[in-house]
Amino acid sequence: MTAPIKLVVLISGNGSNLQAIIDEIECGRLNAHIACVISNRADAAGLQRAAKANIKTKVVDHQLFESREDFDQALMQSIDQEKPELVVLAGFMRILSDPFVEHYLGRMINIHPSLLPNYQGLNTHQRVLDAGESEHGATVHYVIPELDSGPVILQARVPVLADDDALTLADRVHQVEHKIFPESIRRIAAGEVTFSHGVVYYNQQPISYAQQQFNMLP
Ligand code: GAR
Repeated sequence: MTAPIKLVVLISGNGSNLQAIIDEIECGRLNAHIACVISNRADAAGLQRAAKANIKTKVVDHQLFESREDFDQALMQSIDQEKPELVVLAGFMRILSDPFVEHYLGRMINIHPSLLPNYQGLNTHQRVLDAGESEHGATVHYVIPELDSGPVILQARVPVLADDDALTLADRVHQVEHKIFPESIRRIAAGEVTFSHGVVYYNQQPISYAQQQFNMLP
């Protein structure tokens, strides 16, 4: 067994995706170690989840900084102190500056609640309902300077049901997020998924669309 991949997880809120990662590590399915959970909000419920799992936490409150660049600099310092191999954005609701993103290029991943490239940005569930879509989902991708545009590692689809509201739909999306996020980290930790020059590789070959689809994978 190789050494566990060292993670820093960034959160802003509830932390259910953080919890899914913690659970997969604790049950031995994910060979990873969370060195630290960092939140930009002191009241993020995910901080309690981390504390309960005996994981170190830090708060870098964006309100205490005059500019995005100053906040990003402080956040970068907090992350780099931990020397992570992978930075995991698990519901981290801050736009990151280009220098920050470039510093972690190829070693920072994000989960987004839509089938990217569709529905970048906020309020995805309501927007999907308003558009009358029959399908929705979630995407794990490497982070690049363009918001919600990085190359895809895994994507999972869910149906939109006739009686859905934004909450029921969000709940269904969360269920698949909790599968594809730990699974993406597992693939990176195992060396199955790699990133080079803006391209994701799956077992040394540029990843195909089929390999990005969670349900179609072996
Ligand atoms: C998740 O649905 C995640 O996809 C979304 O925030 C939620 C966090 O939930 N992320 C974004 O919208 C990023 N643009 P959680 O705190 O329960 O994990």
